Amino acid sequence: MSYPYQLMTQADYENAYRKSVENPEEFWAGVAENFVWRKKWDKVLEWNFTEPSVKWFIGGKLNITENCLDQWAQKQPDTPAIIWEPNNPNDPTITLTYKELLAKVIEFAVVLKNNGVEKGDRVCIYMPMVTELAIAMLACARIGAIHNIVFGGFSAKSIRDRIEDSQCTFVITADGVYRGAKPIDLKSAVDAALEGDTPVKKVIVLNHANIAISMKEGRDLWWHNEIASLQGKELKDPIEEMDAEDMLYILYTSGSTGKPKGVVHTTGGYMVYVTYSFVNVFQYKPGDIYFCTADIGWVTGHSYIVYGPLAAGATSLMFEGIPTYPDAGRFWDIVDKHKVNILYTAPTAIRSLMAFGLDPLKGKDLGSLKVIGSVGEPINLEAWQWYYDNVGKKNCPLVDTWWQTENGGILISTLAGVTPSIPTFATRPLPGIQPVLVDANGKELEGNNVAGNLCIKFPWPSMLRTTYGDHERCRLNYFATYPGNYFSGDGALRDENGNYRITGRVDDVINVSGHRIGTAEVESAINVQDSVVESAVVGYPHDIKGQALYAFVILDGNISEADALAKINTAVNKEIGHFARPDKIQFVKGLPKTRSGKIMRRILRKIAEGEMNNLGDTTTLLNPEVVEEIKNHRLS
Ligand code: WTA
Repeated sequence: MSYPYQLMTQADYENAYRKSVENPEEFWAGVAENFVWRKKWDKVLEWNFTEPSVKWFIGGKLNITENCLDQWAQKQPDTPAIIWEPNNPNDPTITLTYKELLAKVIEFAVVLKNNGVEKGDRVCIYMPMVTELAIAMLACARIGAIHNIVFGGFSAKSIRDRIEDSQCTFVITADGVYRGAKPIDLKSAVDAALEGDTPVKKVIVLNHANIAISMKEGRDLWWHNEIASLQGKELKDPIEEMDAEDMLYILYTSGSTGKPKGVVHTTGGYMVYVTYSFVNVFQYKPGDIYFCTADIGWVTGHSYIVYGPLAAGATSLMFEGIPTYPDAGRFWDIVDKHKVNILYTAPTAIRSLMAFGLDPLKGKDLGSLKVIGSVGEPINLEAWQWYYDNVGKKNCPLVDTWWQTENGGILISTLAGVTPSIPTFATRPLPGIQPVLVDANGKELEGNNVAGNLCIKFPWPSMLRTTYGDHERCRLNYFATYPGNYFSGDGALRDENGNYRITGRVDDVINVSGHRIGTAEVESAINVQDSVVESAVVGYPHDIKGQALYAFVILDGNISEADALAKINTAVNKEIGHFARPDKIQFVKGLPKTRSGKIMRRILRKIAEGEMNNLGDTTTLLNPEVVEEIKNHRLS
């Protein structure tokens, strides 16, 4: 069994790719035919990258949840849609079939409606990795509300910023989350985020961890009470018909400047692309058990735990815990227990598990695995080889999938077993994706064996449409640097066979354990401290996290370094979240600056990386003397 749009051989891929470039509209219309539309589109594509304006399947009407749920509840009602594995291996697994998941989504959609949520409203979701998170997002999509999911590791301040920026009127959360030995409170962060004036009218709270929390009268409602109030009543399905270009969700992500941006994804094109890429990259076959270890709080979870797999009628395994609890064999236990066929994880998880050696793998049957995948950052050769040899047992294709929040879906990747895997290479673009490499002046570097800034020159169905509330920011960030192209912010090289290798960010965004962090955000969290004069944050290579943050900070002299350190750590926790805390904080007397007063990050980066003898020309600096001082006190 396969899907009508599934590419089975390398020749299929080459053919599809050629067609997708020669006639993109015909190509994507052919894929889109396989979905459930209430009304077919009038026109496939309209676009320009100057405004920018991109529209796919214009005039098409649909509801994405009919594709993710109703069609499968009809065709395969008893197939598991979601298998949920709890944090604690002794707690019971939950399985929801397509029929059950559809019923739960309709029920919760009714709850949302009864509480006043309307089509177009923005709903903030701040939840653990539980089935109710998937139910909440699908219920929003069912009634046309726009979800804005905030990863559970973000602080109250980050939740507040996101709620304000997108004017969310509802919040869905839980009392707490299990990650490792003891439950962690979530609700208090929401309470703190909503202090003072806020557009939020109601908060629906799931009791998940039995933590004592406070409920605000008139604002907070328990999920279970809301569901209980529906029992015995005839429910009218509140499904809305959506336009292909109606907003599906907003997801905030970090860039090199300012606050995080609300990336906007719309309905029709997103659905088509995430499903097409899911099926083809992982070579999903009906009946396979697919396990993506990402958190739904990030785009990988949106596209490849929920929307892509469900729209393909797949069985998606969700896991609440962490890879090292109760021990470093947890992933392998899950693969063994559920006979997982496809595993999609991140290099940082691989590296952290590598550090425990091979013992945690002993006695675990990984024979069910057919495909293994990686996402979030470049995968180094050692991690690639370890994953391929010890997890894939040298007979599972490893797909290194390159993409971004803004892309919606995987753009460059091997198609498992169909096109060749090459260690540390994402390899070839998916059909419909036209990557180009440009030099610093925006000149396209043609031919092979070249390296440059990675851009995409033609639209694809799941690309971002705007940044919420600020279209100009979208233009400036992604479309103005190299006019005529979408600029990813990543660097890449293309080898002699046209395979791409992603070399990492070329801007001030750092991937720490696969979490995208803008150095500007961390600097502003540090700089708000009274005792801080100025700071600069750069990335440096880290064995497990891939990259970590190194902060250089100037103090005003009225505080001890120990106190400053504690204050800075607290400030980053509070402003962003614990995952954004710098690993190293060096107090310095000055920061290297150009004559026009700009911090020379290049020099700081080199020092952080330990490349002290290779700093280039520092004589043109305003203050060359600070460089020696910083070098002498570098933290190793
Ligand atoms: C990086 C995650 C190398 C890249 C889906 C990108 C990768 C950023 C890969 C996006 C990969 C993601 N190889 N680098 N296979 N996948 N990246 O928005 O720097 O959280 O720009 O999306 O992660 O991170 P985001």
